[in-house]
Order: sequence, then C-alpha cells, then structure tokens
Amino acid sequence: MTIKLPARRNFLKDGMAAALGAAAFPLISSSPLATKSATAAKTPQASAPSASARIKIDFDRQIGKIDRNIYGNFIEHLGRCIYGGIYEEGSPLSDSDGFRKDVLEAARGLHIPLLRWPGGNFSSGYNWRDGIGPKDSRPRRWDTAWQAEESNRFGTDEFIQYCRKLGAGPYITVNMGTGTMQDAADWVEYCNGTMNTAWANLRRKNGHPEPYNVKYWGLGNEIYGSWQAGHKTATAYADLALEFAKMMQWVDPTIKLVACGGNNADWDREVLERLADVVDYISLHHYGGSMDTPKEIHDASKLEHEVHVLDAVITSVAGKNEKKERVKIAADEWNIWFRSWFKRGDDHKLEEIYNLRDALWAASALNIFHRNCRSVQMADLAQLVNVIAPIMANPTGIVLQTIYFPLQLYAQHSGNIALDTFVRSDTFPDIPDTPYLDVSATTDDNGQKLTLSVVNRHPTSDLTADISIEGFKLQATGDLYEVNGPSLDSTNTFAEPKNVGVKRSQFSGAGPSFHQTFPAHSLTVLTLKS
Ligand code: AHR
Repeated sequence: MTIKLPARRNFLKDGMAAALGAAAFPLISSSPLATKSATAAKTPQASAPSASARIKIDFDRQIGKIDRNIYGNFIEHLGRCIYGGIYEEGSPLSDSDGFRKDVLEAARGLHIPLLRWPGGNFSSGYNWRDGIGPKDSRPRRWDTAWQAEESNRFGTDEFIQYCRKLGAGPYITVNMGTGTMQDAADWVEYCNGTMNTAWANLRRKNGHPEPYNVKYWGLGNEIYGSWQAGHKTATAYADLALEFAKMMQWVDPTIKLVACGGNNADWDREVLERLADVVDYISLHHYGGSMDTPKEIHDASKLEHEVHVLDAVITSVAGKNEKKERVKIAADEWNIWFRSWFKRGDDHKLEEIYNLRDALWAASALNIFHRNCRSVQMADLAQLVNVIAPIMANPTGIVLQTIYFPLQLYAQHSGNIALDTFVRSDTFPDIPDTPYLDVSATTDDNGQKLTLSVVNRHPTSDLTADISIEGFKLQATGDLYEVNGPSLDSTNTFAEPKNVGVKRSQFSGAGPSFHQTFPAHSLTVLTLKS
C-alpha cells in the first residue's frame, strides 16, 4: 500500500529558519513569571444590552471524563529545547544538577501531567545506551534527524530526574527507525526492571535503586514519513510494531503502548487492524498555522475533523477486535508551526515567535480536546522550551510566549468532566460553519465547579452572549481570566515581554441566565462555584 506523504514535511528546507527565530530576541534579563496583568488587556463587562451570541450549558449533558494527560508536553533533542533550554550545565541560572531553575519554574506553571521524550524525529536514530553512565564517558554522536552534534549528557536518568522535579509522568518513544526490538525491551528493563538482571542492575549501579515505572511508551515516531530514519509502509510498521510490543510487554506487562498513527485513515486502519489488541493509544500529530486569521481558525476546524476521522477508524476497527477497551487518541504532537524550518548548523532551530492569534488557536485546540474527551485521552504540546515552545530561554533569562497562557489556564482551572455546550454566534464570512465564538465547559464530579472557556476569534468586535446554565446552583461571583493583547499580531519578546498576558478579575452576576461580553481577539476563562 502506498501512503501519501504530507508535502510540508520538507525538513531540510533552507533559509526560513532564523527569519523569525531567536535572532529576534535581544539577550536581556529575565522576564518575571507573574501573569496577573496584561498591560493591554481590556476589561470585560458583566452585562450588555443586546446579545449576538448564545451559550447554553446543562449539568446533565456530560460528554465524559477529561484525562489530565491532555495537558501533556514534549521535549526533544532538537535545537535549544534540551541543551540551552531545560538543561544548561554551568549556568548561574541552573541548579546543581544542571537544570535551569527559571525554566523549571515556568514549566511547573503549566501543570504538566506527562512529558514525552526523546523525540520526535530524533527518536528514530537514538541509541538510549549512549545516554547512560558517567557523563564524561558518553559518546558524542551525529544526530542525522536534526543534523546536529549530540553530546548525550542528557539521557534517560536525567529525563526521569527532570520529570520528578516537574511533577510529570514520563512518556518514552522508542526507536523503531534504526533500533531493534531488543533495544526497546532492554530500555523497558533499564527503566522498570525489578529483577536481578543486567539492565535493571545497570540502573541500580548508575545510582537509581528504585524502578522508574515508566508507564507510557511510544512505538516509534512518524514512521510513515520519508523524513524519518527507517520509514516504513503501514504493513511493515504494523508487523514490526507487533513484535516490539510483544517484547516490551514481556518485560513489563503493565506498560501502556502508543501506536504510531499516520494522519491518514488508510494507514491508521491497517495499523489498528494489526495492533488494536496490544496498544492503548494511536498517535495523531497536528501542526497548523497562518498569518491569516480565517486560515488559522479554519486550521483548528481541521484538527477537530482529523480527530473525528481517527475516532471513526478506531470505532470501525473496534468492532472486529477482541479487546473490550477502545484504543484512544494520543495527540502527542500539536502546535502552530509554519514559520521556522531549519538548516544544518543552525543552533536556533524551529524557534517560532508566537502571536496572540496563535494563542487563540491553542485555546481552540484545547477546546477541541475537551469536546472530544472520550477519544482524545492524551495530548502533548510540541514542545516545551525554545523549539516551537511556550517558554523561550536565553543565557540570561526567559520569556513566556503567548501560547503559554491558554495552556496554563486550561490545565489549572478545567474540571475533570466535559459538558456539551450549545453555542450560536455569527460565523466567519469565508469559512463555512465556523462561529467566532469557540467554547468548552467543564465541571467536576460533584458539580461544584463550572469552568467556561470562551475564545472570541473575531479580529475586531467584542461579542456579547446570552448565557444560560441549567443544573447548577451557582454563586453569583467567580474569577475571570482574560488573555488578550493589543492586536492579533502582538508577541512577547525579551524586549517587550508583557504585550500579551492574563488579566484576572472578580466576576459577579452569574446565575441561571446572564450576559457576558467577550472582547475582540480574546480568551476568557470563567470559573464559578456552586
Ligand atoms: O516537533 C518537531 C518535529 O515534528 C518532531 O520531531 C516530529 O515528530 C514532527 O514532524
């Protein structure tokens, strides 16, 4: 079977890389983490005379449980994500283990439950054995994926240590490009082994007596694409992945496996028909973006469409398989990425500078994960620091990019149950059936908290909505968080770190029915208690 390759994955495209990359960031001192005031954010009004939109929420209309792993993140050996990002030995800003304290503090603010590593494309050529043992004895290697030198000073033990500092669970992608099933099984043993066997003993010898209990393991990365070392057809991948899965589960039967999805229904069907009984998830990668607002918004609709298509494939295959539990979607790479490609020798690879438009797209993506919580049960933003990232670091400090704020607010304030919201608002003239308002609502098990997340994607107009809420006895007051900035093109840089941020205010006037005005180009997260 021939699988069509997405044309945009021309990773060796020259020239565009640094155009909007780190060069745009002057090296000045760190920006504070406080996000309580966005200089240019407007104050929303608690009521307005006429409403052009309608939002209805009913406690009884529950979609399902939200798995917190949808607020996951990802670090790859790529550009300055790890070296010069989360890890900078010898920096005055690092702790004694070499981890950047300012980056860690900002990352903690994202409440990340799960962290994916080591790639990405990098994983398809990675030999995990290079990254363990005394650091000065580790081999330096040429990384073919990103055309860079790899020191291997950050490896499995450092990754686990970082996860612990962050409070996140580890998720490791094994090498199904150049690696073998024995390599993968040995890696599981190194991490999780409890017996008196060689790899478990080597972990102990390296100073880690207790098993790491790595629960989530990815069976390769984007193996469908020619940009991947050892790329394969769906048939070849599925045959091999079955053997990898078997070996890895024979070492630790408790692990959860993520099959490599192809963003292509033919690939996904073939892979699931072979693997549905042994894997728990299938991956979906989505990168979008455009400087044109309607196009970027349309791209969010495409993400939702991709989720629906993959869910339909899962459903159709599920009928044929023996396992009772459905395979879930792991959107284990998602973000805006269209400006900064890379070239060999460039240290600042994929350093996208995000604007407010991108932050609203990210909020819409999170709404999509909420609305589709029955199928999407893991998602990892690609990536955490410097590389297509919410946090930018230079040797003297950090700045929080615009997309940081929706990630922070959703992870911090969303409840664990998604509610089915009815939304009616005007639609974009050029994009069929795409409303300006994009909404998700969540509650908790006892219905004691309601969180309403509303993105007003209108470039110029505030929108007032009639909001009706059934099934909750809400207090009139709550907290309102607004992400906004002077314009959709506003960015945060080291020179101007606070153009876009979060403004928090007290909200009053909630009840079974009320009005709320959502300012132009904003995200509003409203938290109410009963
Ligand atoms: O996140 C950057 C790259 O995008 C990853 O390495 C790869 O999996 C994807 O194509």
